[in-house]
Amino acid sequence: MSALPQPDAMAVATPLVINGMRVKNRFVRSATGEGMANVDGSVSDRLEACLKALAVGEVGLVISSHAYVEKRGQARAGQLGVHTPDMEAGIARLARAVHAYGGRFVVQLAHAGSRADSTVTGEPALGPSAPVTPDAPQCRAMVADDLARIEAAFGAAAARCRDAGADGVQIHAAHGYGLSQFLSPRTNQRTGAYGGSLANRARLLLEVLGAIRGRIGRDFPVLAKINCDDFIEGGFTAAESLQVVSWLETAGLDGVELSGGVFESGQRTFSRLGRLAIPEGEAWYRENARAVKAAGVTMPLILVGGIRSLGTCEDLVASGDADLVALSRPFIREPGLVARWLAGDTAPAACVNDNLCFAPARSGQGIYCVTEARKAQRTE
Ligand SMILES: Cc1cc2nc3c(=O)[nH]c(=O)nc-3n(C[C@H](O)[C@H](O)[C@H](O)COP(=O)(O)O)c2cc1C
Repeated sequence: MSALPQPDAMAVATPLVINGMRVKNRFVRSATGEGMANVDGSVSDRLEACLKALAVGEVGLVISSHAYVEKRGQARAGQLGVHTPDMEAGIARLARAVHAYGGRFVVQLAHAGSRADSTVTGEPALGPSAPVTPDAPQCRAMVADDLARIEAAFGAAAARCRDAGADGVQIHAAHGYGLSQFLSPRTNQRTGAYGGSLANRARLLLEVLGAIRGRIGRDFPVLAKINCDDFIEGGFTAAESLQVVSWLETAGLDGVELSGGVFESGQRTFSRLGRLAIPEGEAWYRENARAVKAAGVTMPLILVGGIRSLGTCEDLVASGDADLVALSRPFIREPGLVARWLAGDTAPAACVNDNLCFAPARSGQGIYCVTEARKAQRTE
């Protein structure tokens, strides 16, 4: 990689417009479950402060955590909800907090499917089909009424976000949650219109996009996050992902974020542990991004997964392999990372990929960098 240009001459520092949404630079906070929402899913002061810090830190596009579109799709306690009209006020707070510092704010709309936590939802989880192995999450197979209700819930949630002043929404179809479960033949063993062929497995996702467009029209940015590969035997493959991304573009999606892996995939995903080699160990799904571009997809592509240095961010955007670069864990430790980089301190992200941040996110305690906190304690 050659020497970096001055910040103001960097491709990654240039603005990009996505269906009318002007993002001031190419840095994205990938959706990250903070576990900071109130018990009813509404926005807490802490959650607002967390997203504000990212906008203060010059992140151009801040994507919320996965937000459940119906209670039965809630993955865990402390998760943001966008399932009822009274969630709108909180979304408006988040939008204002990000806008105040020139950032754009997109809400990630989600349904956890069989990964819903019935201890918080109070109801059995719903999946594409009954569990195939004894260790898979227990769930009941969705029936036609469930599918129709969930599609409508995505549409209503998108309308709420727009009315609250968010700049766009992102459909969560990655990582083995609800819509990703439908895409995978491993977890979707349905027969009939929503199982079997790729077109059938992608039907719910495409209908969700249609339901959202039906509620909010063509002029509001709708993105999707999707696996470029499940990296697991019998899962959603790279070739299938390419096809679905292309269908989504034809169906009116405005931008795609490529991620990878499901809960059980192991090393090709964010379950890999340990500090990443810079730049060789970075940008895990770059080849898949290139394949998407080579397949003729023209909507903006956001790449996430193991991106840790400014040099790699710049190289991804300048080469055209990605239009925007998304990070998650580095921003937990350093919400001001982008501002630091753009001010000329180009040391890579301090994140060491130990994944200790997952525990406070999942327990409802609220994410923070456990390693950083321990370090601070030792030096006190
Ligand atoms: C604590 C935590 C929570 C996450 N929550 C979400 C989420 O709500 N939605 C989502 O699409 N991805 C979620 N992710 C995945 C990240 O967005 C990202 O795809 C992944 O961590 C790889 O990027 P990174 O290497 O920059 O961390 C989460 C990751 C972490 C560490």
